[in-house]
Amino acid sequence: MPQIAAFAFNLSALSRLGNLSGELDRFTQGFSQAKFTQNSPSITPNRSRVEKFQLGTEMAAACQQPRKNQGGYAEDHKCSDILPFSIFTSDMRVPFLDLKAHHDPMRKEITEAVSEVIDASAFAGGPFVERFEKSLANFCQVDHAIGVGSGTESLWLALLANGIGRGDEVITVPSTFIATAEAISHVGAKPVFVDIMEESYNMDPSKLEAAINSKTKAIIPVHLFGQMADMDPIMLIAKKHGLFVVEDAAQAIGAEYKGRRAGAVGHCASFSFYPGKNLGALGEAGAITTNDSDLAKRIRILRDHGQTEKYCHSEIGWNGRMDGIQAAVLDIKLKRLDDSTRRRRENAALYHDQLDDFDGVILPAEVAEYKHVYHVFSIRVKRRDKIMDDMAKEGIGCAIHYPVPIHLQAAYQDLEYESGSFPVAEQCASEFLSLPMFPELTSLQISRIVEALKKAVRSI
Ligand SMILES: Cc1ncc(COP(=O)(O)O)c(C=O)c1O
Repeated sequence: MPQIAAFAFNLSALSRLGNLSGELDRFTQGFSQAKFTQNSPSITPNRSRVEKFQLGTEMAAACQQPRKNQGGYAEDHKCSDILPFSIFTSDMRVPFLDLKAHHDPMRKEITEAVSEVIDASAFAGGPFVERFEKSLANFCQVDHAIGVGSGTESLWLALLANGIGRGDEVITVPSTFIATAEAISHVGAKPVFVDIMEESYNMDPSKLEAAINSKTKAIIPVHLFGQMADMDPIMLIAKKHGLFVVEDAAQAIGAEYKGRRAGAVGHCASFSFYPGKNLGALGEAGAITTNDSDLAKRIRILRDHGQTEKYCHSEIGWNGRMDGIQAAVLDIKLKRLDDSTRRRRENAALYHDQLDDFDGVILPAEVAEYKHVYHVFSIRVKRRDKIMDDMAKEGIGCAIHYPVPIHLQAAYQDLEYESGSFPVAEQCASEFLSLPMFPELTSLQISRIVEALKKAVRSI
């Protein structure tokens, strides 16, 4: 009985570390198969489950020692790097992304929401989309949110609604997903690139004015990896030249810049709810946010076949409505987004704790007064492909965002940019390596990733 009481006490302590059941499972699994490396207590695989749990909770208690507080990060970090010994098994695999783990706790709520949409037969646009639009506008601190079919479509509609088209130029960065440039091309305009800053991987405002000419109509700063671009100087330059600014906030829902949320700083903003995004649908979806009522009205008309009333089309539009099912699901997931973001930030803090002093790895920096939401945790390393291969052999899933900057893509060879045009973006593209980053990632998994990374970097 006392043993159970002590265990219960430790359980509540451990729950404060977050991810309780996942951690405990891993502790026990680890003890059954562990390969103890140093200062290994005398544990045998034959020990009882209770003994293994007790040891796990002791280790967890040790983890509650005050942690180094890094500017901007949560103080109550999860912990595993100070565990008294390594409990990693050689076959502890860590996926790059675990969407199943993300959806499992909300499966029931999601299923009920889908059922509600089926009962209401409100599949294309309709009340569920309207409800989500209100929640999203509220979340982003803006007057209007318009749900559409994808992030790509939201960028395209934003440009189209502002009359940007053939003969116009739109400035963006080469370090982005190709959709940013595609939207510009599909309204008939020409994408023009400016380089990024090495500190934030976002648009370098000091290079912006040199790219502006009489054809320039808009700027699309991209909030890459979940950190916002330096919007104040961008908005000032835009005002001076009468340019329209669309934030590409596809990767940055919930991010902040000097107290303002992504989506609330530009003239309008585009969001993607692709399943792997921080707020992911169960398929494709996107949205546009804005404080401009006329712009919101125009986008609503354009996304619905240019329709002002049933079968009356004032202009040529498109079918860009959001699905009712996606909206209902997104509304549920939006309620949990702040919590998911907190966990992502804790995970980023753990990576920093364990890698800050390690040579050969450049970690992403959070700019002062910004709130990074870590959609992607991309480090920079030399010989990135070899390190990624070594990590894969250790069962760690990594990714590259993005190996070829847009100006060097075959699809954009007509723009006639050469290698060397944007040195910072090109250098970063050759070194970026994205480590696993999702809210459900456990501290033990992070330690496992760090262990494999250090081994890979030391071997080059
Ligand atoms: C920066 C950026 N812009 C635009 C998009 C396009 O969004 P979607 O895939 O929803 O069309 C993405 C999606 O990955 C993105 O990362």
